Amino acid sequence: MNAMSAANVIGTSPASKADIARGFGRARTSYESASRLQRLMGDILLETLKQRSHPNGVSGRVLDLGCGTGWYSRRLAEPGAEVTVTGLDLSADMIRHARANSSSDIAWLVADAEAIPLPDQSCELIFSNLMIQWCADPGQVLRECRRLLRPGGRLVISTLLDGTLRELDEAWQRADPGRRHINRFAPEAAFRSMVLGELPSAEIDTRTLRLPYTSPLALAAELKQLGAGYKGAGRRRTATAPGRVRAMCQHYPREPDGRVMASYEAAWVHWTCPGTGGKSQVDERGVENCRYG
Ligand SMILES: C[S@@+](CC[C@H](N)C(=O)[O-])C[C@H]1O[C@@H](n2cnc3c(N)ncnc32)[C@H](O)[C@@H]1O
Repeated sequence: MNAMSAANVIGTSPASKADIARGFGRARTSYESASRLQRLMGDILLETLKQRSHPNGVSGRVLDLGCGTGWYSRRLAEPGAEVTVTGLDLSADMIRHARANSSSDIAWLVADAEAIPLPDQSCELIFSNLMIQWCADPGQVLRECRRLLRPGGRLVISTLLDGTLRELDEAWQRADPGRRHINRFAPEAAFRSMVLGELPSAEIDTRTLRLPYTSPLALAAELKQLGAGYKGAGRRRTATAPGRVRAMCQHYPREPDGRVMASYEAAWVHWTCPGTGGKSQVDERGVENCRYG
């Protein structure tokens, strides 16, 4: 399988980068009030980091990759941390919003995670919460992270996998057959093999998270407030007819108390850049793990 077709299997978003940036940019002021799942998954990522931290913590440059409104950039730069935090996002509007709501000691960068304009080995820690599933070629993001990390530096990533929002997907398939309403997510096996192909020593944890909503419409509204609605090819450019929306609500499974649940197939990746010296380190499969000075 060549790199392009491999990327198409793993890369979940056929949406253009411009559409993704525009969608999140528009949501910059509503995002934080709707980001319940994002906080849950990012807090677990932070916790993982604390548990596995060196006794003296992290120092040096920390990159928050796909930082959105900068919520975690600010957490990573909390007083006491001996770090210089850079928040990077594809959306210029998100970055403007993040900068306006943060202290001046955080640096901000509008850039694509698949081509990061920072030098080799310039980061001690790369933190990326729920960004990589938006990338057409997540393997390229991992290669960029590998290039940027210093030996001993760490990468922590969270993402969503196939089966995420399956109740909503199935309800839409019955209400509006043949039309996609939900983003595609990589199957777990393909994601694992992509990550381990790039970062053989990575640890991957997965878990199903289920969040309650008062109604399917509340879930749909939350996705809109996050800027995380479906942006791929074949989406409706106009509002979906009310009859179809009603049908979707009728097909969505209800709990005995009338609420609805949404499933999220969550994954967290943790990788430490190996090595203590030398020019480069290439593993038995020819994967270069890290470059040294
Ligand atoms: C779900 S939000 C997560 C934001 C933040 N990490 C958080 O935890 O609140 C995803 C973010 O990834 C950004 N993004 C999507 N594709 C990107 C890419 N190729 N490069 C950089 N950022 C990207 C979006 O603009 C958006 O702000």
